[in-house]
Amino acid sequence: MSDVDAHAERFDAKAADYDDSNSPEYRACLELVIDHARELLRRSGDGVTARSDSGEVLLDLGTGTGAVALALAGEADRVVGRDVSEGMLERARRKADERGVGTVSFDTGRFREPAYEGPVDVVTSNYALHHLDDAGKREAIGTIAALEPRAFVLGDLIYFAEPDEPAHDPSVDDPATVGHLADALTDAGFVLTAVERVTDGIGVLVAERAR
Ligand SMILES: C[S@@+](CC[C@H](N)C(=O)[O-])C[C@H]1O[C@@H](n2cnc3c(N)ncnc32)[C@H](O)[C@@H]1O
Repeated sequence: MSDVDAHAERFDAKAADYDDSNSPEYRACLELVIDHARELLRRSGDGVTARSDSGEVLLDLGTGTGAVALALAGEADRVVGRDVSEGMLERARRKADERGVGTVSFDTGRFREPAYEGPVDVVTSNYALHHLDDAGKREAIGTIAALEPRAFVLGDLIYFAEPDEPAHDPSVDDPATVGHLADALTDAGFVLTAVERVTDGIGVLVAERAR
């Protein structure tokens, strides 16, 4: 079984309880991702144009039960969520149905193969990229850059200070340092325009495409 399949299986098993099991730090990170992405989407029309004639598209990778995607449904013309766990996606679809949200779609896709073609304006990801090792994260950032969004908002387990003791089992959670992510983002053609530290191990990076 690949690492990605193992993560999918683990999240399938967690899906039913996922929305009730998150910490205050997770919620703080989530809110920052949503706020930054909302601000970026609202810049459209202000000298910034959507990449498609049919309006702005937000792509949320590692979307899980849709926390980011559903919160931003009213801010983009179309929101696309991608995840490897069918169990998490199923919950996301159910929430969209319950809320009567018709502009959001959820389907299988991976960071390095998002299974999405077409113009994307803003990419988001919250609490998911750390499931890849550092080389995988760099590859994923390259894949995201190749979609040519104007911005990528990344909330995640990120080391702002190296812990004295390993804080995670790297086969499950493998956070990068903020330096590794900053290098990978700038090498892929992004400029970091905001760095938000939630804790020494959690934060949000806003990366905008260099013009
Ligand atoms: C902790 S959850 C976060 C979900 C959501 N973004 C949120 O903020 O609640 C991590 C998600 O990443 C997904 N995931 C893990 N590896 C992935 C990969 N390689 N590509 C896409 N999604 C992945 C998992 O299935 C899971 O739904």
